[in-house]
Amino acid sequence: MADTPNASGHEKIETSNFLMIVLILITVAIGGLVEIVPLYFQRSTTEAAPGVKPYTALQLAGRDVYVREGCYNCHSQMIRPFRAETLRYGHYSTAGEFVYDRPFQWGSKRTGPDLHRVGGKYSDEWQRIHLNNPRDLVPESNMPAYPWLAKTAADADAMPAKLTALKRLGVPYSDAEVAGAAAAVKGQTELDALVTYLQMLGTTIK
Ligand code: HEC
Repeated sequence: MADTPNASGHEKIETSNFLMIVLILITVAIGGLVEIVPLYFQRSTTEAAPGVKPYTALQLAGRDVYVREGCYNCHSQMIRPFRAETLRYGHYSTAGEFVYDRPFQWGSKRTGPDLHRVGGKYSDEWQRIHLNNPRDLVPESNMPAYPWLAKTAADADAMPAKLTALKRLGVPYSDAEVAGAAAAVKGQTELDALVTYLQMLGTTIK
């Protein structure tokens, strides 16, 4: 109580709005700095995890289909470090696995399962049939069918410009990779590209 003659320091703070606000701000500021500042010096958040390579031109083309079709609206690519998650999906996701993801596809909603480690879980054939019509394999599925992907050619001519843009952002593509990007995608359908992308997802960490 404020009128107690020997009010303790704690009481003084609790009964003064001003002092309380200032001290809370100082505490939060220190806590924030302690959490944020080390991230600026930690290489592990900006460096590729061992074995993580930039996307090949075909994988990148598939990734663009994934983004265009809005797969992230129903699928996350972020396995959280909880037992229930790692038992179902495998090793939890780490920062170093996403360094070449621009933009990242973590997603925020799981109508379907997480896809961060779906690579290699099924055969290419399974992925093709599933994307063409999920009900052919999973009768109760509410995932949309994407039958046009098999009939649409992947945009090969756009690939060199896309690799160049990513290179400017720091992805270590060689000049040869940029030059060969169109040829690597030519003749492939959007389905080929998307399946290639899905099959490498999360495969760098065993
Ligand atoms: C409306 C929500 C929705 C959208 C959009 C969606 N999916 Fe799905 N997806 C699901 C559901 C639900 C399942 C689980 C049932 C099944 O396997 O079909 C699933 C399952 C999957 C699986 C199998 C995962 C596993 O571990 O069994 C893959 C791979 C997949 N989706 C890829 C995609 C891709 C690629 C796209 C975008 C072209 C996409 N999905 C768009 C809802 C969706």
